[in-house]
Amino acid sequence: MRTQSAHLASLIRDGYPLSSKYDPASVIKNQMGPHPLWLMESLCRHVDLKSGMRVLDMGCGRSITSIFLAREFGVRVRANDWWIKPTENWKRICEAGLPDAVFPIHAEARSLPYADEFFDAVVSVDAYHYFGTDDLYFREHFARLVKVGGQIGIIVPGLVRDFDEGQIPAHLKQIWADDFNSFHTADWWRRHWEVTGRVEIELADVSPNGWRDWLLFDEALDALRGSPSDESDLLREDSGRYLGFVRMIARRTR
Ligand SMILES: C[S@@+](CC[C@H](N)C(=O)[O-])C[C@H]1O[C@@H](n2cnc3c(N)ncnc32)[C@H](O)[C@@H]1O
Repeated sequence: MRTQSAHLASLIRDGYPLSSKYDPASVIKNQMGPHPLWLMESLCRHVDLKSGMRVLDMGCGRSITSIFLAREFGVRVRANDWWIKPTENWKRICEAGLPDAVFPIHAEARSLPYADEFFDAVVSVDAYHYFGTDDLYFREHFARLVKVGGQIGIIVPGLVRDFDEGQIPAHLKQIWADDFNSFHTADWWRRHWEVTGRVEIELADVSPNGWRDWLLFDEALDALRGSPSDESDLLREDSGRYLGFVRMIARRTR
């Protein structure tokens, strides 16, 4: 039988050298979905972040990705969330010693309190699919936040390929929740943003090893909780046929 520390140690991975500097117990404590630091690291391989930049971490949850951005890239981060209150995040930010670099903001996705072109870059991990799938959201609320020439990057749970004849496959049907209808393919996201005419798409792909890492994280979580979850059963059954993480990086052109 593996010990608790062995399960935690399984979350330190060569493929994620930046995330591996962080205590896995703290990631587990603050997670709201699959390993947020792995997702942010995977996304940021394609975002040009330079020290001093103003960055929005949209839907930051418990702000561990915002702390990661400030520490690893020296950027100044607006840690924007809706479900998690800013006072809670502020405590974590101060404990991390970053009160001058990470600013917790409580704002809903359609009422963001930022000037147009305020940010040098805008990123979002495991959150954009909750509010960003409607036809007008990207143009009216999101792309405006980054300066022309700046990058917008998201990573969201999504589909590796479309369902045959639009039907949810049998192995996914048993636990398919309405929320999952916001899972889309990289091609779907590409069209969704491209049609606005405001950005050039630099990357629209399925994160390499995304589903394996998602399962690995869920298995560690299950082991630490002492009970299996439907989600890990589903990921094992699916084995990357349909489910994964989609990355989108675009540069604002006008
Ligand atoms: C699954 S959690 C992920 C949090 C964090 N990014 C992480 O990976 O740990 C989704 C986040 O999206 C944010 N969110 C969902 N709907 C939102 C909305 N309408 N406006 C702003 N944020 C929203 C929630 O506050 C929540 O923290």
